[in-house]
This record gives sequence, C-alpha cells and structure tokens, in this order.
Amino acid sequence: MNHQEIKKNLEKEFEEKYGSLEGAELFFAPGRVNLIGEHTDYNGGRVFPCAITFGTYALARKRPDDLIHCDSLNMDPGKVFEKRIDEIVEFEEEDSWTNYANGMVKAMLDNGYEVAHGYDAVICGNIPVGSGLSSSASLLVLIGCILREYNSIDVTNERIAWLGQYTENHYIGVQSGIMDEFAIAMGKKDHAIYLDTATLKFEYAPIDLTGYKLMIMNTNKKRGLHDSKYNERVRECTQALHDLQKVMKITALGELSSEEFEKAADSIQDPVNRKRAKHAVYENERTKLAVEALNAHDLAEFGRLMNESHISLRDDYEVTGMELDTLAETAWTLDGVVGARMTGAGFGGCAIAIVKDEAVEAFTKKITAVYTEKIGYAPSVYAAEIGDGPGRIA
Ligand code: GLA
Repeated sequence: MNHQEIKKNLEKEFEEKYGSLEGAELFFAPGRVNLIGEHTDYNGGRVFPCAITFGTYALARKRPDDLIHCDSLNMDPGKVFEKRIDEIVEFEEEDSWTNYANGMVKAMLDNGYEVAHGYDAVICGNIPVGSGLSSSASLLVLIGCILREYNSIDVTNERIAWLGQYTENHYIGVQSGIMDEFAIAMGKKDHAIYLDTATLKFEYAPIDLTGYKLMIMNTNKKRGLHDSKYNERVRECTQALHDLQKVMKITALGELSSEEFEKAADSIQDPVNRKRAKHAVYENERTKLAVEALNAHDLAEFGRLMNESHISLRDDYEVTGMELDTLAETAWTLDGVVGARMTGAGFGGCAIAIVKDEAVEAFTKKITAVYTEKIGYAPSVYAAEIGDGPGRIA
C-alpha cells in the first residue's frame, strides 16, 4: 500500500470508529534496515543502520481525558483497544500489539514525563510485521511522537529512541539494544547513521547509491522477537564478557580489537559463548572498516564486508537459518551484486543486497526462483529507499 491508499483507509476507519475526522492528524515513523553492525548494539559496539521510506502511519486525535483508543488495520483489524493511562501497569497478553503503545506511556511515566491526555488512533503500517525491518520499534517511536505532541512533552527524538528501547527491555521483555529505535527516530533521507552504542555519539554518512539499488529480500518467515532466541544471544555475550573480565579490564565486548580478543579468547569457558563474542568483536571491527570504505567510495570493499558479516552471523552467531542463507548465498553468485547479508535480529526476517541497476530484474527473478524451489514458498523482493525520521505529515 502506498501513502495515499493508507491515508484513505485510515480516514475511513477513523470516521467509522470515532465519529468524525475533525482534529485528526497523520503521523509517520519509518522502519529501518541495518547496513552492517549486527548484534553489536547490546555489546557496546558500532552499528550502521538507516531509516527506510516504508513505516507505520497513525491517524490520531488528542483526547481531553486520559483514555487511549488504539485500532490497527494490520493487527486484530477492526478491534478498538481501550485503556486508561492509570490502568497501564505491565505487559498483558490480551492487549496484543497495543502492549507497545501502552509500554511507551509507561516508559514516559517511569522516566518523569507527565502524560495526562490520551488519544484516539487508527494505525497502519506498510512494513510487514515480524519481517526484521523493525515494525515494533517503528510503532514505539510513532507513539512516542504522538504522546509528545498531545502532552506538550519536552523530549528529543534521541530520548524517544531511548524510551522505545526502555519499553522493549522493561515492558515487552526483549533485551534489545538501541539500534532500531535510534535509526528510526534519527533517520535522515539518503543517509545512514554511524552510531557508537557505547556513547550514543553518531554521525550521518551520506549514502550515494547512484547506479545501484538497495534491495530487500523478505524470507516471509514469521518470527516474534520475544519468542526467538534473541535474549539467549544477549545472555551468551554477557557470560563471555564476564569470563573476559577476569583477565582484562573491559566493560563491553565492543571495546576489544580482534587482536586483543584473540589473545584473551581462551579465558571464555564455553566454546559457544566464545563464538558469540568473536562475532561481536569482529563485526564491530567490520563496521568501522565498512564506514571507512564507504567514505573512500569503495563500494566493492563495503560489499565484501557485508558478505563477511553474513558468514559470521551464520557460522559464529548462528542466527541466520536456511531461509536467510539461501537468500544471501544465492545473491553472492549473481551478476551485479556488490554484497548481501541478513539484516536485523535474524532467525527469519529480511536480507539486503546492493545491486547494480541493470541487474535488478534478473536478480529478482533468480532469487525468487531459487528460494521458492528450495524453501517451498516465495520471498518478497523489492527496492528500498533511505528516508527521513518520524513526524507529523501535513
Ligand atoms: C534487533 C534488535 C536490535 C539489534 C538487532 C541485531 O533488531 O532490536 O537492538 O540488536 O536485532 O543487530
């Protein structure tokens, strides 16, 4: 669905559920892809994501009271969830997807922001849920922006990103890093964000893909972050860090160079934890090199590092699986492909590839054919554009 169609559908539903369109405003928050730097953000490492032009829309209206009404065209369509602000305590299964919306209110209250006004909203996204393009972080940031607007809260986009991560960690129960919310809240058209997750210092890096397309390949394998092995990876890295701390003074794996890691790796007791830490350290280093390559206009080197990243996520971090491997490994064999890798948490979701314009058609056909033959259903393959962060749409 494009922007105009979404707007029309939202207006129809809004009028039907909430009476009239008077005072209703359209908000948007993007999704994201991560170009490189995967599973480094909860290890104090670097990430290099960008916001995309697909995302989540809300048609919303401020309420004079403290009621929150949420309706989605994607999830439990047609059902209006109702909650009073002071009823929001903790994650509840029956709140379904609105746990994200409620959690953001709780995050704001927990952190000293005053939220007195609720809202009526209808929400619709054009990033597939569970696709690894951060539909949940997009929703969190979107709700953060709506709450800010309707409660005149003095809070920056960076802080909204942090509150989104707080919600994931404390309300939803996923020990995720800050990458997704940061990429979404701070997105900038045609730029990626080079973020040091240890300090939250960041730079915008222009991404000039003239002559190329950034392709998204969706495995169409559904995955829920909280029922995935994500928290297990976080735990494995934490254990590896604990072992390393017995022989060296560090606070995060992201502080280590690969040489330093290799010297101390034997102090990590469990061989599985050792592999996980190895990925975190080398991936962090690759991310630095990839940004350098991009600054030097060396797209070939950037692509090579993307491929290496996938291999490390496949062999050492073990978060790819047959679907993502089929996509990336097939892409590597095709003409005009600069690089390809999984993006996001893994375990399903999406892979990305940088592909020469003239090769895109053949690429799409071949990837679709090979994947369908091997996996038994088709992937979705399309070009993405790097877009801006969240906001109100006039
Ligand atoms: C998910 C998390 C992020 C990050 C990635 C992996 O998207 O939400 O914080 O850890 O996985 O890089």
